Amino acid sequence: MLGIRKIPPLLLLSFPLLCMAGDVHQPVSASQGMVVSEQKIASQAGVTILRAGGNAIDAAVAVGYALAVVNPCCGNIGGGGFMVIRLADGRNTVINFREKAPLRATQNMFLDKFGNVVPGSTTNGYLAVAVPGTVAGLELALTRYGTMTRRQVMEPAILLAENGYRVTAFDARWFQAYASTFRTQPNVAAIFLKQGKPYQTGDLLIQQDLAQTLKLIAENGAHEFYKGSIARHIVESSNRHGGILTLEDFSTYQAEELSPLTCRYRGYDVLSVPPPSSGGVTLCEMLGILQHFSLSNEGFRSAQSMQNIIEAMRYGFNDRNTFLGDPDFVKNPLEQMLSRARMESLADKIKATRLIQPENIMIDFHENTDTTHYSIVDRFGNAVAVTYTLNGFFGAKVIADHTGFFLNDEMDDFTVKPGFANKFELVQSSANAISPGKRPLSSMTPVIVMKNGRVFLVLGSPGGPRIITAVLLTLINVIDYGMNIRAAVDAPRFHYQGTPDIVDIEPLTLSFLTSKALEYRGYHITTQSPWAAVEAVLIDKANGMRYGANDDRRPDGAALGY
Ligand code: DON
Repeated sequence: MLGIRKIPPLLLLSFPLLCMAGDVHQPVSASQGMVVSEQKIASQAGVTILRAGGNAIDAAVAVGYALAVVNPCCGNIGGGGFMVIRLADGRNTVINFREKAPLRATQNMFLDKFGNVVPGSTTNGYLAVAVPGTVAGLELALTRYGTMTRRQVMEPAILLAENGYRVTAFDARWFQAYASTFRTQPNVAAIFLKQGKPYQTGDLLIQQDLAQTLKLIAENGAHEFYKGSIARHIVESSNRHGGILTLEDFSTYQAEELSPLTCRYRGYDVLSVPPPSSGGVTLCEMLGILQHFSLSNEGFRSAQSMQNIIEAMRYGFNDRNTFLGDPDFVKNPLEQMLSRARMESLADKIKATRLIQPENIMIDFHENTDTTHYSIVDRFGNAVAVTYTLNGFFGAKVIADHTGFFLNDEMDDFTVKPGFANKFELVQSSANAISPGKRPLSSMTPVIVMKNGRVFLVLGSPGGPRIITAVLLTLINVIDYGMNIRAAVDAPRFHYQGTPDIVDIEPLTLSFLTSKALEYRGYHITTQSPWAAVEAVLIDKANGMRYGANDDRRPDGAALGY
C-alpha cells in the first residue's frame, strides 16, 4: 500500500496503458544489421546489400534508389533530403541534399499582380519544382563513405523497375486519388495508369522509363543527372510548360557535408540536421525545454505532461518559423535559440502558465505522409538515418519526357508571401523567403541518438512539421517512459505548431478526462486520422542486439535484420 501511495496519482492512472503498449508491440530483433523502411521490398534491398558485405552507407544508397521505384509517391530521385551518418570510427556527418531554388527564381514569383498567391502554383507544375538533390546526395555518400560500386548498390532498384513490383494497398489508394491528374499527361498516364485506369493492389507495375534512367545513372553517375541527358530533358520540359529551370541550375547543383546539430537530453547525445532543415534545431529546443520537467513523474499522456510538451512544441515552432532559413543566405541565431539560459527561462514560463489564452484559430488541415524515412545499422557499427521527399504526393505531379520519375514541389516550403500559410499551415518569416539558389527550410529530422559514445537509436519520419513532433514523442517514449522501440513508435501521437492554434491528437491518445482537463486549461483539441511513419532502430546497450520498428501506421513497411 505504502509503495503504491508513493507513485504520483497521474502516473498510476496511465500505468496500465504504458504496460499494455510495451507488452503488445514488439520490435524485430537481429544481431548484425537492421534496415527499416516504409516498403518491405526496399528494406529487403538494403539487407541484401548488408549481407553481401556492404556497410550501412552502401545499404542506404541502395534503399534510396529502391524506394524511388517501389514507393513512387515519396521515394525519389526528383527530390531531396538529408542523411545523418555515424561511422564506426566515431565520425559523424550530415549529407545535405536539399533541393535549391532555380537561379531564375524571385521572391514574389508565386504572386499575381494583386500580390496574391496564385492557387496551386507552389505545389503543381514546373514552377513548383526546385533543383533536385537526391542523386547528388546519394553519390556523395557512396563516394565518401560507401564501399561498393554504384552499379552494385543500384542493381536492386534497376531490377525492380525493369521486372516490376506488386502495387501495395497504400500505392493503389494514392494512384486512385491522383488518377485524374495523371490522365492529363500522356507520359505520366503511360506509366501510372493501366489502360487508363489506376493500378490496383497486387498489380505488377513495371517502370521501363525509370529503369532506363537508373541505368544511365549507374553507368555515368550524378554527371548524367546534372550535366547530361537527364538535366536536358528536365529543362526542355520545364521550358515547354512554363517553368524556369535552366541547365546552369543543374550543372551548379552540389550536395554538401555539414556538421550535425547536436544536443544532450537526459544523458543522451542527439545528432540531427542543422539548417536548412529546422528539424534538429526545433527538436533540440523542445528537448532542452522538456529537460526541465519530470515527464515520467507527471505520467504518460497526463494533462500536466501534455501541457508541458505542447508548450515546448509552441516555443519550438514559434522560433522555427521566426528565425530559420538557409544558412548560406541568412544568419540563424542557433546559439541564442538553444542556449541553456533560454531553455530554462522558457521552461519557467511554462511552469508559470496555468490557463492558456487561445487565439488565432484557423481551419485545420489533414496531413499526409508524402515523404519517407529509413534507418539502417550494419554489423560494423555504422548507422545511417535518411529522410528524403518530393514534398507533396508525387511532388509537382510532373515527369519530364521519358525520364520516368516525378519532380518535387519543394518551392512550397519557402515563405512565398509573409503571413501566408503553406501546405503544412506553416506561417514563416522572411528568413525563408525565396532567393535564387537558396534551399527552402525543411522540417525533416533524421536523428541518431548516442549513449556513452555508442549508437542507441536511429529514427525519423515523414509528415512535414509533424516529423519533428513524431520524432520528439518517440524519443520521449523511449527515454522518459521506458517503452521498447516498437511501442514507442506505435504509441498514439499529438501535434501542436502554434498556427493553427489546435492540438491534433490521434484516436485513443487521450482519455476523456484528460481531454476535458486540457480543454479546461484552454486548448482546442481535434482528433485526426493517424499520421507520420517513424522507422526506427534501437541498439541494446547491454548486448548489441539491433531492434527494428516499422510504424504500424504503414503496414507495407518492414524492419528486416539478419
Ligand atoms: O522538407 C519538408 O519539411 C517537407 N517538404 C516535408 C514534406 C513531408 O514530410 C510530406 N509528408 N507529409
